[in-house]
Amino acid sequence: MNVILLGSGGRESALAWKFSQSTLLGKLYIAPGNGGTSQYGTNIDIRPTDFEALLTFARNHDVELIVAGNEDPLVAGLYDYFQGSGIRVCGPSQAGAQLEGSKDFAKRFMEANGIPTARYRSFTAANIEEGYEFLGELNPPYVLKADGLAAGKGVLIIDNLDEARKALGEMLGGMFGKSSATVVIEEFLSGIECSVFVLTDGNGGYRILPVAKDYKRIGEGDTGLNTGGMGAVSPVPFADEEFMGKVTTRIIEPTIRGLREQGITYRGFIFLGLINVGGEPMVIEYNVRMGDPETEAVMLRIDSDLLALADAAARGSLGDLPLDINPATAVTVMMVSEGYPGSYPKGRVITGLDGVEDSIPFHAGTKLNDDGTLVTSGGRVISVSSLGDSIADALAKSYAAIARIEFEGKYSRRDIGRDLMALEQK
Ligand code: AMP
Ligand code: GLY
Repeated sequence: MNVILLGSGGRESALAWKFSQSTLLGKLYIAPGNGGTSQYGTNIDIRPTDFEALLTFARNHDVELIVAGNEDPLVAGLYDYFQGSGIRVCGPSQAGAQLEGSKDFAKRFMEANGIPTARYRSFTAANIEEGYEFLGELNPPYVLKADGLAAGKGVLIIDNLDEARKALGEMLGGMFGKSSATVVIEEFLSGIECSVFVLTDGNGGYRILPVAKDYKRIGEGDTGLNTGGMGAVSPVPFADEEFMGKVTTRIIEPTIRGLREQGITYRGFIFLGLINVGGEPMVIEYNVRMGDPETEAVMLRIDSDLLALADAAARGSLGDLPLDINPATAVTVMMVSEGYPGSYPKGRVITGLDGVEDSIPFHAGTKLNDDGTLVTSGGRVISVSSLGDSIADALAKSYAAIARIEFEGKYSRRDIGRDLMALEQK
């Protein structure tokens, strides 16, 4: 089976690595891929949202399956576009992608299906006064979310009421363009977050992938600006059998049931961003794809053929395909460019990858120049993943690899997983 994987980050490197091990795989194409994905398949110079070009390429190269790594093509209607083409898509329909594409839709969906989440209301410029009042009814800090996609920047958490009111005005006034024409204001929840990934076939079948925790801030001790993610750990010690039992009955099953009851086709990955509030799981957000960098850890723990599972989901029946999970611990630590998440240099030469032994360096923002030199091309450059007997053991391998990989201005957080080590029972 020939496959196109859409995207260009560390997540797509990890998916490509995993798919390349499948006995079902013929040719793997990555659109557009990065400087490392060509180890696992062929990079093709097509944007993930250029559906026409993807269709032409797929027809000319006997592609049977498209897997979306990132959300943009799904929210833009990838699944619907390929309906009737004979080419399967692993992912939700455009209606299903609204779970990520519209926070207001996601909140209404959760409310309608009794799924635990923070109390909220949505506002537009037409009822901004009510928004100001609603803020006054909540306790600080105040959580304001742009309804639409905002490249991970659309959530503001503000301590002061006057500033929150001002931010509401600015958001509705176009701070995130059309994405913040509607703003969701919700209650602040406090607890530890984790990411739960589910693959569903749209007909009631699903599998729960390994649970992970990511580290979003640039600075150690979770300080400083938000990033796309600085590292991840899987499994998450507090996501034990009891917690996951609650996640399954209160969140996963009602989500899958709710989608079917609303006639929404969803054959792909669901990412539940959860928070553990005193032992009770609540949903912070839905995404319609895998997490990045969680995928770079999670893939190391999947022993089964994920391509077989993704294809079965796209066909509408997971049947009795197994999803075997390795009990070992996986971590990934992101190497970023100095300045990230602000502005950062590009084109810095990367060396030392040959010396990496016990880890997998998944490329994210890298590019192969025509002369064969590998250079940085993004803020998040390489996600270094390792498997070990414990968080500390896996981390030691990733940090040893990071010491060998060089590019000017490299930076990584040294405290990935530290908060979870205390909870670990090994
Ligand atoms: P989101 O894009 O919805 O995942 O929000 C980004 C981040 O903001 C989340 O990962 C949380 O850390 C934080 N966040 C969002 N909503 C809440 C909430 N209701 N309470 C506390 N933190 C939140
Ligand atoms: N790591 C969080 C995300 O992928 O959205």
